[in-house]
Amino acid sequence: MENLDFEQFIGSFSFDQRLAQADITGSIAHVGMLVKTKILNLKDGKKIIAGLSSILKDIDKGWKLPKEEDIHYGVEKELIKRIGPVGGKMHTARSRNDQVATDLRIYLRQETDEIAGLLRQFQKILIKKAKENIGVIMPGFTHLQPAQPVLAAHHLLAYAHMAARDADRLKDCRKRINVLPLGSAALAGTSFKIDRHYCAKLLGFEGVCENSLDAVSDRDFALEFLFCVSAVSAHLSRICEEIILWMNPEFAYIKIDDKFTSGSSIMPQKRNPDCAEVIRGKSGRIFGDLFALLTIVKSLPLAYNRDLQEDKPPVFDAADNIKLCLQAANEMLKSLVFIEKNTVKSARKGFMAATEIADYLVRKNIPFRTAHAIVKKIVAYCINSGKTLDSLSQEEYKSFSPDIAGDIFKYIDLKNIAAAKTSYGGASKKSVLRQIAVLEKNIGREK
Ligand code: ARG
Repeated sequence: MENLDFEQFIGSFSFDQRLAQADITGSIAHVGMLVKTKILNLKDGKKIIAGLSSILKDIDKGWKLPKEEDIHYGVEKELIKRIGPVGGKMHTARSRNDQVATDLRIYLRQETDEIAGLLRQFQKILIKKAKENIGVIMPGFTHLQPAQPVLAAHHLLAYAHMAARDADRLKDCRKRINVLPLGSAALAGTSFKIDRHYCAKLLGFEGVCENSLDAVSDRDFALEFLFCVSAVSAHLSRICEEIILWMNPEFAYIKIDDKFTSGSSIMPQKRNPDCAEVIRGKSGRIFGDLFALLTIVKSLPLAYNRDLQEDKPPVFDAADNIKLCLQAANEMLKSLVFIEKNTVKSARKGFMAATEIADYLVRKNIPFRTAHAIVKKIVAYCINSGKTLDSLSQEEYKSFSPDIAGDIFKYIDLKNIAAAKTSYGGASKKSVLRQIAVLEKNIGREK
């Protein structure tokens, strides 16, 4: 092995160079503030801002900053190279500690907005699919065992509601991200008469951190972001798990486009749900990112410690991967097609009308517990005689309870069962349409 390059080991340039834009944006505002407060004269200020802008322009065009210990030194050295020693005035009344916290917040603001945008798309696709499949009945499970028939639309919308809360959570988290640490300097503030509120205004921050020690040490805004992203990932892992299950030939409830699957190198018959599996698998690493940062900040004394430099790889990793997962999930869901004949066939199995028969008896004034016992016997009889609830005769029903009349068949019709779940938030079509209206209104407000 080669000798270890300690500068590189201690530094962060290899991963924080992607903060270049955020870093320069922050510096331009800082210099603007130094000019406004007359800490820096206008001529020097203009020169520095012009230099920073030229670096920014080059980076936007794809030019790469030369390697330095970290992005902050990288930008400063390049600035001095371009405009001379006056560039060294930029770092007045700040330190890299408040600078890096600022950069990370600028970066995360942007990321939360992008992820929220993808979550809106995710909801829109689910709503579209719900509308397209508004009449499709499928089995609803609890404990992954047949429970009651539901509308496929109701099932899909469950995920749309999760995504709506995910987006809401990110929006809320953004408020705490969007507070400015800059001007806290290394740890104690500065004796220069700076105007942090002006700087915050220039950068679009909603407020300034109240305590300089907190400002340079705090990473809970990043932890919160990682939790928000983890929740998104957990939700995606669940819908992907269902897609994997529904694609299995034993279920065959859905089809998705071939490009989201792959074949096997040995078994010619196979189509594997790789895209859904990768999204499901990514949740492991995204949760890991949350735990990495929690562990980094645990027990750290105030104020800044170099350990905090390790905050960035997990934050970047989670942000990058959740965006990839959402993009992939969105594309995959667009191609999702329900195979109604199979979902209905499956909903007919498993005695999913049993609760309905019990409720029918309750309406005839039989206590629910008694009704439950009666239907349990009916189901046992069906299992023994190889019958289904809709193939029993009226006489057979009557033998279990005289209260069961000919109208029972209307109640146990799959479509009627789903349609009858009219309670607020239930699985009926009316409820589904109401949910769509609520979700759409919400999405409309976000734009
Ligand atoms: N590269 C550092 C980080 O990412 C910047 C702050 C360094 N501050 C210091 N006092 N060494 O956290």
